[in-house]
Amino acid sequence: MGVARGLLLMSIPVLLVSLILAPYPKLVLGTWLGRWVEIGQALAKIFVFMVCVDVTRVHPQFDTLEYVTSEMRAASSSLTTADARLEKVINLVDDYGWNRGFLINVGDVKGQVLDQALRARRRDPQPLQLAVELGTFVGYGTLRMARVLNGSSTLITVDPSVMSYAIASSLYEQAGVRDQITMKKDFSYNTFRELKLQGKKIDALFIDHVKKFYLSDLKLALQLDLLAQNCVVVADNILSPGAPDYKSFMFSEEGRQLFKTEVHQLHVEYMPTWPDEVLVSTFLGAS
Ligand SMILES: C[S@@+](CC[C@H](N)C(=O)[O-])C[C@H]1O[C@@H](n2cnc3c(N)ncnc32)[C@H](O)[C@@H]1O
Ligand SMILES: *[C@@H]1O[C@H](CO)[C@@H](O)[C@H](O)[C@H]1NC(C)=O
Repeated sequence: MGVARGLLLMSIPVLLVSLILAPYPKLVLGTWLGRWVEIGQALAKIFVFMVCVDVTRVHPQFDTLEYVTSEMRAASSSLTTADARLEKVINLVDDYGWNRGFLINVGDVKGQVLDQALRARRRDPQPLQLAVELGTFVGYGTLRMARVLNGSSTLITVDPSVMSYAIASSLYEQAGVRDQITMKKDFSYNTFRELKLQGKKIDALFIDHVKKFYLSDLKLALQLDLLAQNCVVVADNILSPGAPDYKSFMFSEEGRQLFKTEVHQLHVEYMPTWPDEVLVSTFLGAS
């Protein structure tokens, strides 16, 4: 009796998991039965993710949003200016990265290289009209860029993840800069093609998405003639996880003709003992 009961109880989570994971029930079971399985799946998901597992606690991006929104509410009376709100959200995300969990933002140390590169580009006589970030994640890098750009340029951030789309737009709103940022829930290369069709040129590019796409996306931008003269290209995580082919290209004969590149040797976000590099390259113009 005890064994049978145990087996029965154990079969419940197994059934739930198989129900949740079974793909395309309508294709396999037909419209009528498939629809009932879909409803079962949806109810099981609601049960698992609303009753059993608190997603906001287990998911790092949700947990960050939870932390930032509660702290912003607590601090709201002291945050009297727009700049103060933006500053506070950036600091809270860093605080989460250093003291609560770990996040894959550019972080406050390498982030200063990004800030300086954008500031230097803003001092050019040619205006900085369009800045693009590849890889949004929770929107931390975008917030740093928005702080430097101060509403003076179009700022586009690209990420195919709907989780990033939801979390980052909430953080932008908390920071009061939602209207300064254009979000593309898409892949880097699609956004490049769209910008090409619109006849746009990029003046600042922050590359921080999938490491193995750094070089191919840079080459795509070159091929589409998307980089404006003097465009500043900042690339994070050159050592960890690493984009060695991107770095080799920048220092190859071809790369040196197209870009002037500086290497900044720092450390992985929120981990002072783990080395990392940021590359800042200025586009010299098509050869
Ligand atoms: C390291 S995180 C970005 C961090 C962010 N730039 C910051 O500093 O706060 C990398 C992000 O790239 C996104 N990603 C993956 N493939 C992509 C693609 N093809 N184009 C743009 N983003 C992509 C991932 O979903 C992930 O959120
Ligand atoms: C940011 O923009 C506002 C409004 O356009 C302007 O008043 C302010 O001086 C700018 N701040 C900086 C640091 O450029």
